[in-house]
Amino acid sequence: MKEPLSLGIAGLGTVGAGLMQLLAEHGRRIGEVTGREIRVAGVSARTRGKDRGIALDGIRWFDDPAALAADPSIDVLVELIGGDEGAPRRAVEAALAARKHVVTANKALLAKHGVRLARLAEKQGVALNFEAAVAGGIPVIKALREALAANEVRRVYGILNGTCNYILSKMQDEGSAFADVLAEAQAKGYAEADPTFDIGGFDTAHKLTILTSLAFGTEVAFDEIHVEGIESITSADIEAADALGYRIKLLGVALRTGSGIEARVGPAMVPKHSAIAEVSGVTNCVAVDGDFSGNLLLIGPGAGARPTASAVASDIVDVARGLVLPPFVTPTAKLAPHKRAKIDGHQGAYYVRLSVYDKPGAMAAIAGRMGDREVSLESIVQRRPRAALPGIDARGTPGSAATVILVTHETTEDAIRQALAAIEKDGKVAERPQMIRIERL
Ligand code: HSE
Repeated sequence: MKEPLSLGIAGLGTVGAGLMQLLAEHGRRIGEVTGREIRVAGVSARTRGKDRGIALDGIRWFDDPAALAADPSIDVLVELIGGDEGAPRRAVEAALAARKHVVTANKALLAKHGVRLARLAEKQGVALNFEAAVAGGIPVIKALREALAANEVRRVYGILNGTCNYILSKMQDEGSAFADVLAEAQAKGYAEADPTFDIGGFDTAHKLTILTSLAFGTEVAFDEIHVEGIESITSADIEAADALGYRIKLLGVALRTGSGIEARVGPAMVPKHSAIAEVSGVTNCVAVDGDFSGNLLLIGPGAGARPTASAVASDIVDVARGLVLPPFVTPTAKLAPHKRAKIDGHQGAYYVRLSVYDKPGAMAAIAGRMGDREVSLESIVQRRPRAALPGIDARGTPGSAATVILVTHETTEDAIRQALAAIEKDGKVAERPQMIRIERL
């Protein structure tokens, strides 16, 4: 056996504790497959005395994760704190500066500072591995970095946030209310400390930023991603989608277009009999369309202690085996700038839900506004009027509004947005129109 590999683990939350458990159960096995014994030499976390259900005897405690990272007893910093600034950033920078390998699950840090950190890792000749940063237990980073490295990727997309998928699935299956399901997801440890990261689409955007760079050989560019969350999805949308043959999923999608990379996060309609529609609960999936590989779909648990710990451990195995690859597949000096394709240019069909004042001519006016922008309608369904809505009578309009569901033929995002803005301006609707992209799979 070669020299043992000494880990410094910064962060002992859900994933950190999961990793300690994995190492306790499978440490010997990792030693056998890599030829190196794996040791935890030091740990760091915010609170020392807390009972985490893991044995820390004989392991040095560090109050400061950056001191742990730079300590001579450590070969690898395993950063599981999370967050794009402060302690995790300092710890990762300290480790790389001291020529230590880094394994991290920190998608926010990579989405913001990935290229700079990768450049430093390459200069220092050490690994910067982040399998756990995207889609939990699914080995998608390895797939893009290794198995698919010889392909030109045309599109990468998927369900990248377990919390949102859990919420949407429960709303679909049980008719549960959004807030109740969110509380459950938090209790189960799926949601981020601040759940707006999940439901606002930002967690998905962090992951998509990383996938986009790996897939297209471009610099990480979080600010170039168009982000929408699931807060506006109601049970009316879930029911209407079902009736139309769709499921609503929060997707992260990045594709090459003639004008650049279209990278977006948002609720999307997917056909209910497609494989992606069947991905429910906390499960994630990532689809990659490679020019030689064809279309691949990886499905698996996207969050939780054990799957995420499995991904972290796979990165540790690579380090123990001596595998050091450019973090973003393409060496940083050769990463191309990210050229954004504007979301207004997105081409596709749309689902629209309108709450229309129930009076003569309203539908004709709506269809007219769509026609003005060359938006052709595939179907129109009007549901029975709802009871009086707050504020409607006060505005002197009839005291009821009907739900109208439109499905468009293929159009551009610019056209549909302009049509909906005109409909709102005309005063024909009682609420902001709901608009959801219908995904071409
Ligand atoms: N909050 C994330 C999720 C955890 O729900 O998927 C994994 O990144």
